[in-house]
Amino acid sequence: MSIIDDISKIKSNFKSDLDLLNLKKINSDDIKYKYLGRKGLVSNLYSLLSSVDNAEKPLVGKKINQLKLDISDKLNSLSKTRKLDTNKSLDLDYSLPGISYNPGSIHPLTLIIQEIKDIFNKIGFSNIYGSEVDTDYYNFEALNIPKHHPARDMQDTFYLNNHSLLRTHTSSSQVHFMENNNPPIRILSPGRVYRNEDISVRSYCLFHQIEGLYVDKNVSFSDLKGTLEYFAKQFFGPKTKIRFRPSYFPFTEPSAEMDVYWGLNSDSDYRITKGTGWLEILGCGMVNPQVFKSVDYDVKKWNGYAFGLGIERIAMLKYGIDDIRLLYDGNINFLGQFK
Ligand code: DAH
Repeated sequence: MSIIDDISKIKSNFKSDLDLLNLKKINSDDIKYKYLGRKGLVSNLYSLLSSVDNAEKPLVGKKINQLKLDISDKLNSLSKTRKLDTNKSLDLDYSLPGISYNPGSIHPLTLIIQEIKDIFNKIGFSNIYGSEVDTDYYNFEALNIPKHHPARDMQDTFYLNNHSLLRTHTSSSQVHFMENNNPPIRILSPGRVYRNEDISVRSYCLFHQIEGLYVDKNVSFSDLKGTLEYFAKQFFGPKTKIRFRPSYFPFTEPSAEMDVYWGLNSDSDYRITKGTGWLEILGCGMVNPQVFKSVDYDVKKWNGYAFGLGIERIAMLKYGIDDIRLLYDGNINFLGQFK
């Protein structure tokens, strides 16, 4: 039997297979496999081609190609009509509104942290992350807050056992970082902190801070002021006014708190600024040499500044949120507003 006979036999077989397909006695994948598969009938024809006379080869080759094309065209057009049929059987009502998907949103605290990181990263600060469970040493002692120091009362601590605790501030990550790295240092350390406080509109048992630390030679208080002024103008707008007030933190000397001028345009401005127009947003100061001593830095050679920002406060101001608990309730209606 010649290869030309084979071709016509395959053609007629294909036709009868299509009839079977119509009667649903065979499915189209099986047909495709039978004819067009790697070891299918058509591929087999190609392997027979080598035994054909050279003079006839072009003609026979063309016929096989045509057969292959016809079969795949037919199968493709069948699968298209079948898809339309399936849609029809779903009986769709095209006048109904579509299904909407909720793409989710980014938590306001995450948005604020990201914005602050961007601002400081532009001037060379890199991000580090400390751990939320830490020891008394890193959270207090190494930061010049010995046992029974009155400053411990400033922060009501969740102790886990005699020496482990939930960190009360991100300042603890300063110490870890300095233990493992040499100056110069320019870092930002965002994260959660915990304090055993009564839950109310204004306070929660956990919140977020961002710690900044800069250590180098000849760092001055005006470097600190310049950096924080740059931050305030980037974050709150170019006309933002700031002021520094002397304060006390055991790990900085001298220490200060920074206020931004919020204005007194509405009743709520009066309330949140206690009638002064000014709002405190961070604590800062020159790193106390005692802290450098606990990480074995040469205090004659190095000095630096540190600052700590409360994120919730800033988020509440920026978005006009009047209850801190909204930030932790996971209410989709509230969170969905922050795209
Ligand atoms: N750790 C302080 C707190 O939680 C905030 C702070 C104040 C951090 C002054 C600093 C700083 O780095 O210099 O209240």
